[in-house]
Amino acid sequence: MSELIRLETVDSTNLYALQNFAELADGAMVVAYTQTEGKGRRGRKWVSPPGKNIYASFVLKRADASKCAPWIGCIASLNTLKSFTEKSDLWIKWPNDVFCGTKKIAGVLCESHSAPASNVIDGIVVGIGVNLNMTMEEVEAIGVPATSILIETGVQSEIAEFAEVLQRNLLKISKADEKFIYGIWKKENRLIGKKVSVQMENGEKSTGIFKYISDEGNLVMLMDGNFERSFSSGDVSVEASDFPAHSSI
Ligand code: BTN
Repeated sequence: MSELIRLETVDSTNLYALQNFAELADGAMVVAYTQTEGKGRRGRKWVSPPGKNIYASFVLKRADASKCAPWIGCIASLNTLKSFTEKSDLWIKWPNDVFCGTKKIAGVLCESHSAPASNVIDGIVVGIGVNLNMTMEEVEAIGVPATSILIETGVQSEIAEFAEVLQRNLLKISKADEKFIYGIWKKENRLIGKKVSVQMENGEKSTGIFKYISDEGNLVMLMDGNFERSFSSGDVSVEASDFPAHSSI
């Protein structure tokens, strides 16, 4: 079994893994009891209350993993969640989230590492946050539609055990062929065919039909005027009327 490093308090497990990249083996995973500066995508903060959730960073020492690393993180999180709950409405929301129904339960932030004194990428840190034991009040305080295993099932999860299964799933899926990984990630994406809006980093928002996911993992949208537009990143929302749910996601 690959190394599993358990920390008490750390700024961010991603930062720790990047700073200690040379000493960490391929397949090593760092988990923390709490993070003081947990990072989300697009410069957002990842709320990391002590002893409640999974805060993990998995080390992939492969120069060619940039494209599929987020898919690996999503699939491993999804499969681990599936083995810890009976919930059938777990799915991947493009690009890097796992949802339970209409609420986010896990997120993935991948960061690349470059060899010192060069700009050559020699690996990726796959950062994963999974909400396990946060209560409704704690989740509501974050201010975005999110949930946890506890909220969904009423059952507390054993964090150490979840971390071990997550690492096993990460090791397994990361050894698979890129096409296979892409196929699973794409199959678990649920919004294809729906009317969605994508908000880009610069605030620009585009609305259209989520037509398909390209081989590069881009969201391809059919716009008014019948032309396609491709997005490599962005925040996706879907109207309640177009989804079997009560609120926008
Ligand atoms: C997102 O959905 O915005 C991505 C969230 C990723 C959070 C995890 S928690 C462990 C790792 N360390 C961090 O600082 N961030 C990631």
